[in-house]
Formats: sequence, C-alpha cells, structure tokens
Amino acid sequence: RLGKPLVVAVDGPSGSGKSSVSKAVARRLGLAFLDTGAMYRAVTWHCLNGRINLENAAAVEAAARTLDIEQNLTPDGEFVRVNGINVTEAIRRPEISQAVSAVATNLGARRELVRRQQEIIDKCHSRIVVEGRDITTVVAPLAEARLILTASEDARMRRRGLQLGSTQTRAQLHEQVVGRDAKDATVVDFQRAADGVYTVDSSDLDFAETVDAVVNVVRLSVNEG
Ligand code: DC
Repeated sequence: RLGKPLVVAVDGPSGSGKSSVSKAVARRLGLAFLDTGAMYRAVTWHCLNGRINLENAAAVEAAARTLDIEQNLTPDGEFVRVNGINVTEAIRRPEISQAVSAVATNLGARRELVRRQQEIIDKCHSRIVVEGRDITTVVAPLAEARLILTASEDARMRRRGLQLGSTQTRAQLHEQVVGRDAKDATVVDFQRAADGVYTVDSSDLDFAETVDAVVNVVRLSVNEG
C-alpha cells in the first residue's frame, strides 16, 4: 500500500539526538528511514581499510561513486554493509569519526552520495525520514517536511558523553561534538535553518517530547503544503 509522498528531511549537528529521534518519528509515521551520515562513514571505512589516501580527492570520489553500500531502510535496528562486509559497528569507531570529515568536505564525494540518497528516496516511493546535514537544503529541498534539530552545546556534549561512556575527558568530548561540526560547517550549513525550515530545539526536552515536537512539525508542514 503506497501513501502520498511524505519525505521528512532532518538536519542538525552531532549530539542533537537526530538519529534516534528520526528513527522514532519514522516508526510512528510508518515511514522508511535513511541515516546519510552512515554513508559518509562507510566510504571513510572503505578508504581506511583499503589504504586509499583520504587526501586523494579523486580516489575518494571514485569510492563514493562505486562502493557497494547496503543499508536497512527501516527504523528498526541498523545494518550497514560495504562490499558485503558488515560494518555496522566498525563505522561508529572513533578512528572513523576522526577521519570522516575528509569525505564530508570532498565535494565530488558529496555529489555522488547526494545522488545515491536521492535514488534511495525514489526507491522508497518518497515515504521516508532522511537525516543528515544537507537534507533540507541539497538532498530533498522539496521535502513535504523540513526541520533542523538543534540542542545547546552543553546538552549535545552531555548526550555524546553518555553514548561514549565516561572514558572521555571534557576536552575530547568538545572536540568530537563542536570541533567536528566546525570542520563540516565549512561545506554545509546545517546550523541555521534555511527558508521554510522549522527548528526544534531539544535542549530542554526529553526524548519523547522531542519526538512529539518533530511529529507536530510534520503535521503542520503537511497541512500547510
Ligand atoms: O551524523 P554522523 O556523525 O554519522 O555523520 C558523519 C559525518 O558525515 C559527519 O562528519 C557529518 C557528515 N555528514 C555530512 O556531511 N552530510 C550528511 N548528509 C550526513 C553526514
């Protein structure tokens, strides 16, 4: 059974809760789910694993174009396979998080991944929640609902700290949350909402409240459109 197109585009900085909130929204609305950051991570994993120099822009772009990336497009569980290898956990390791900006700032690689993301949206008959950094502006600027999920620096560092465990110093957390976003922001502006894009600030909301707020934005957007 196919419904009307409902693409929900969610952008925001790391630690904003984007991924888990977007999954819950997809589940609630019966939509597919795409984590685009996982694709940047998959390309990074492949380059590190295959000794492709991340500074070699053409080689990284070629990997982004040709790599066999398989993801589950549902909000339940998560798996990512690269050339048939299960990398679901490997792409979350700190060495990937540290290196991934080299792929995210490679404009050729971005173009390839954006094209693949648009193909996935088509394949899901435009019934999907897509989360990343450039979804509201580049990947799906015509999405039925577009929003930025933000949170204060403090709230984001606290959440990332909980995710990573207590082994991280405050300075390391700051680098992971604020430092990485600063690098990525040189090529995509995901901190400010573009025209017609809603902002949900989750700093003072718990998880369930944040999901409710996003679902409300989707309802508002659909009623406006
Ligand atoms: O959301 P994440 O931490 O898994 O994202 C991994 C990296 O990919 C991060 O450096 C931001 C970048 N990214 C991007 O540039 N554009 C996207 N649409 C998604 C992620």
